[in-house]
Amino acid sequence: MVSARRPLVAGNWKMNGWQRSTAELAKILTGARALAAKVDLLVCPPATLLSGFAALASGSPVAIGAQDCHVEPAGAFTGDISAEMLKDAGAEAVIVGHSERRSHHGETNGDLRAKALAAWRAGLTAIVCVGETGAEREAAQTIAVVQRQLDGSLPDGATAQRLVVAYEPVWAIGSGLTPTPTDVAEVHGFVRERLGARYGAAGQGIRILYGGSVKPSNAGELMAVANVDGALVGGASLKAEEFLGIAAAYR
Ligand code: PGA
Repeated sequence: MVSARRPLVAGNWKMNGWQRSTAELAKILTGARALAAKVDLLVCPPATLLSGFAALASGSPVAIGAQDCHVEPAGAFTGDISAEMLKDAGAEAVIVGHSERRSHHGETNGDLRAKALAAWRAGLTAIVCVGETGAEREAAQTIAVVQRQLDGSLPDGATAQRLVVAYEPVWAIGSGLTPTPTDVAEVHGFVRERLGARYGAAGQGIRILYGGSVKPSNAGELMAVANVDGALVGGASLKAEEFLGIAAAYR
């Protein structure tokens, strides 16, 4: 079956990047021209670089996104940034519930649901992350964990425009390890089923990204798996050549 879903390759820069990193974005923008017909590209730098990156990427095929948001639009929340502020800075999307937010900041499924709703309120696409730990996989809990995270963190009313789901096994993030294509197919097939059950026809259009140690050398194999609609890339997204090399899986 031919999928109507346009692939998306998103880079999560995490807490990396300086004003001078604009030069790396410029390289991404140059390389993106040859890929734009086949794949959507998104770069999520730290908040300090958002507006500069958005200005540079304006009119290019590369969208700019953020890594987290607060649930309130504004107020006395020292150190936090609202979804509306991200939008104002030029973001089009925000990552919600990355495993590093879940583990280092104790974010619960309920918190993430509220953040996804905040993203929608501001007109941003929410990229909601789910994924099991190594211990959970060993205990054969992967599907149960992913189901709990999906059910708890996805709000009602999702559409292909508002929501992207990223399956990121925690043990695969930054480790150089990846699940087998068969394991990825099992989880992505399950996520697709849940999205269909929850959102009907809209669930078929929602993109499901794979994340965790994606690099140019494994992107082709991972992106070819059924229901994998792109990648959420950490480490390899910091270098234009590697990021574009991953997106080139869709050339
Ligand atoms: P990685 O990170 O590509 O460095 O494994 C992925 C992620 O955390 O989104």
